Amino acid sequence: MDDFKKIFEKNKAWAASTTAANPNFFESLAHQQNPEHLWIGCSDSRVPANQIMDLPPGEVFVHRNIANIVVPSDLNCLSVLQYAIEVLKVRHVIVCGHYGCGGIEASMSERKNGMIDNWLRHIRTTARIYRDLIEKATTHEAKSDLLCELNVIEQVHNVCATTIVQDAWDAGQKFSVHGIIYSVRNGLLKDLIHCEADKVEIKGEDYPTVLR
Ligand code: CO
Repeated sequence: MDDFKKIFEKNKAWAASTTAANPNFFESLAHQQNPEHLWIGCSDSRVPANQIMDLPPGEVFVHRNIANIVVPSDLNCLSVLQYAIEVLKVRHVIVCGHYGCGGIEASMSERKNGMIDNWLRHIRTTARIYRDLIEKATTHEAKSDLLCELNVIEQVHNVCATTIVQDAWDAGQKFSVHGIIYSVRNGLLKDLIHCEADKVEIKGEDYPTVLR
């Protein structure tokens, strides 16, 4: 238990140094949040939304799950998306994947992992859709990196296809949906895809299909 006490000690020191740097910091956040970003990312401990974007508390609304998956039957993710768009009116919805994702790796393996394999089926479906492209990659690492990217693109498609996003865009609300990917090897983000109500822009790689 003693090591858990460190959390409170570190928290106290952080609250004190934050207040010292900006005496109004907590007071200004206490009454409302006004984030411009919704982050849908992987639960992986190496991929913390605020730190990666160097944004302080109050600026990112966050949903994380294994392998940053968005499925239209997931009430948890949909509730976050609805609140972010309808109430917070975020300007940017971000789906962020990362290379070396354990969920992607597990989906590529023959090994049985129990319950989580039901969740990973979503990634296996993506792998099946893009099988021809993935098979062109010559190494396991290249296949894995590509599937990490394609998974992001599929989840951006899933976000855009929700009734929440479609209804908001139909009503003229302005916001973008971005697909990006993070490298745990060098800390850098890469832009993959950018969608607005009437526009889809692919960055970098020339993917064969995007929004169907
Ligand atoms: Co991951």
